[in-house]
Amino acid sequence: MRPLTDRPQAYGLVSRILHWGMALLFAAQFASALAHLLLGRESGLRQLLWSYHAPLGITLFLLVLLRGLWGLWNLRRRPAHAGLLGRLAALGHLALYGLMIVIPGLRLLDAAGGTRGLRYLGVEIFAPRAEAIAWMQAPAEWHGELGWLLAVLVLGHIAMALGLHHLIRRDDTLRRMAG
Ligand code: HEM
Ligand code: HEM
Repeated sequence: MRPLTDRPQAYGLVSRILHWGMALLFAAQFASALAHLLLGRESGLRQLLWSYHAPLGITLFLLVLLRGLWGLWNLRRRPAHAGLLGRLAALGHLALYGLMIVIPGLRLLDAAGGTRGLRYLGVEIFAPRAEAIAWMQAPAEWHGELGWLLAVLVLGHIAMALGLHHLIRRDDTLRRMAG
């Protein structure tokens, strides 16, 4: 059985489950965003995929907070990122974390200041307001654009992991996350 915590040689079981589990959930989230962008309102596929966008987005928000805390707790034992390329990779990971928090965060702020309220898994998170609060809602205009920026960064991240590290350099980078 793999260790639960990270080690300098490889990520532990908890980090791997969070990484690959969330990667699958992000694929589903981007599928719903693509359907929203490309399919007409009457499309049954769009309605199906869009129906889970908000609850899955909130789930991803909660998971990234958990993953960030776990990452911080394991910071000193995690695989190191040495050299210029390593530091750029660490910066890239930081940007991924920032966007994973800010993108759903902007929508949650919007819902907190809105007149419709927000429910998650049947529980009321924000009650509907009598009047909307403009400053809480305005930043959500950036939600979609930042979402697509994250999609581009993720594609770059995958290209670096599979292309540069695994196929060209043939180093251990992919293995320390994939086993
Ligand atoms: C990490 C989580 C999330 C990601 C990656 C994400 C991504 C996206 C993307 C890329 C779009 C643009 C779709 C288009 O161009 O038509 C979008 C739209 C939208 N999302 Fe999300 N989303 C997330 C979480 C959430 C949450 C938590 C909510 C609500 C509580 C939400 C509500 C919406 C709404 C209402 C739209 C349509 C209006 C707009 O484009 O801003 N999303 N999302
Ligand atoms: C096929 C898809 C993916 C592959 C092959 C992949 C590959 C990897 C690899 C090999 C690492 C370790 C890199 C290192 O130690 O320098 C890593 C780390 C990381 N990946 Fe991915 N990844 C994928 C999808 C994603 C997605 C969808 C996200 C986020 C939206 C993401 C976010 C991260 C982050 C933040 C790290 C840093 C370690 C951590 O805190 O979990 N990855 N990935």
